[in-house]
Amino acid sequence: MTLSSAHPLVDGRTTRSPLVRALRGDRPERTPVWFMRQAGRSLPEYRELRVGTAMLDACLNPAMASEITLQPVRRHGVDAAVFFSDIVVPVKLAGVGVEIVAGRGPVLESPIRSASDVLALRPIDPAALDPIREAVALTVAELGETPLIGFAGAPYTLASYLVEGGPSKDQGRARAMMYADPHAWAALLNWCADVSGEFLKAQVEAGASAVQLFDSWVGSLSRRDYQRRVAPHSARALSHLRGIADADDRHVPKIHFGLGGGEFLDVMRDVGADAVGVDWRIPLDEASRRLGGTTPLQGNIDSALLAAPWSTLRSHVDEVLDRGLAAPAHVVNLGHGVPPETDPDVLTRIVRVVHGEL
Ligand code: CP3
Repeated sequence: MTLSSAHPLVDGRTTRSPLVRALRGDRPERTPVWFMRQAGRSLPEYRELRVGTAMLDACLNPAMASEITLQPVRRHGVDAAVFFSDIVVPVKLAGVGVEIVAGRGPVLESPIRSASDVLALRPIDPAALDPIREAVALTVAELGETPLIGFAGAPYTLASYLVEGGPSKDQGRARAMMYADPHAWAALLNWCADVSGEFLKAQVEAGASAVQLFDSWVGSLSRRDYQRRVAPHSARALSHLRGIADADDRHVPKIHFGLGGGEFLDVMRDVGADAVGVDWRIPLDEASRRLGGTTPLQGNIDSALLAAPWSTLRSHVDEVLDRGLAAPAHVVNLGHGVPPETDPDVLTRIVRVVHGEL
């Protein structure tokens, strides 16, 4: 399986984009910037469009998902779009009962707690991902030279939702299963890896020029548990892109982001990532040192400063840019997603600062 001749990295539309260049280890004239969760609740045009449509229905409506993906690109002039979807979309498409409850997050109809619950999970039918392919294709046709970033949840974060049944404080039940029933745990993480891997593959085949694997809950793990019981499954998720995204000039760069993963950034890179996303807890120069100075970094404006006076935020952004120079390449982002109450004009101003226009 290879990328089609109409893929933006094959026909060359996004090959020279600042984002793709930086993720491949280069320093383009303009430092690229995008924001995790840029498509969503901080934008009035998003809220308006979403009235009367449930979150997962919006994700499975190709025209709507595409329009929401494009909104922040038009408004902020960011260097990439991130596909509007959710980490639980492929879980739902694999037949698991899940909903996204506003203000709470994904909630499971029946949590996966035993080996027999894990055995009952079915693989995802590739045809179920058609609405995703369609939404990506519509979006890429509008984006021109701006790359689309596809994404998926990493197996640990997905499994945490499946076992806990919803958001949880420290993933206690999931981590208990890891020790109480290591075989069921491994089978569950493999299932999650395959579901996320197929979700990534569908997005890349339909035109995404980069991908990000989100491991939002790894902060609850020790380095040892991450290394032994989680990382091999994250590698398996990314391995679904093998063969379609290997050749040098067509290589689809992979970003690996983990919230609270500062103690094992190297392990996160070594699952097959080209770049590592860093949260706000570790300065980029220190993160680069921990990675041996050879890995492109993404990050790490502290979202808490988005509401601070502009002069405070501005010096923080300048410091992030400065520390980012320690890495071979830098993609500016937040240390985590855009909080819903963020003033969107502040995000636009950050883009202008990073682009040297302000
Ligand atoms: O702009 C983007 O980044 C693209 C879209 C995107 C969404 N979810 C849309 C969304 C992405 C990349 C995600 C990933 C995601 N979803 C993660 C990993 C990233 C992270 O933030 O840590 C996780 C853990 C989820 C699960 C999830 N979905 C949560 C915790 C929530 C928040 C619940 C709430 O309402 O506070 C969601 C819902 C969700 N996903 C929304 C959006 C725009 C809000 C739903 C709405 O607008 O009604």
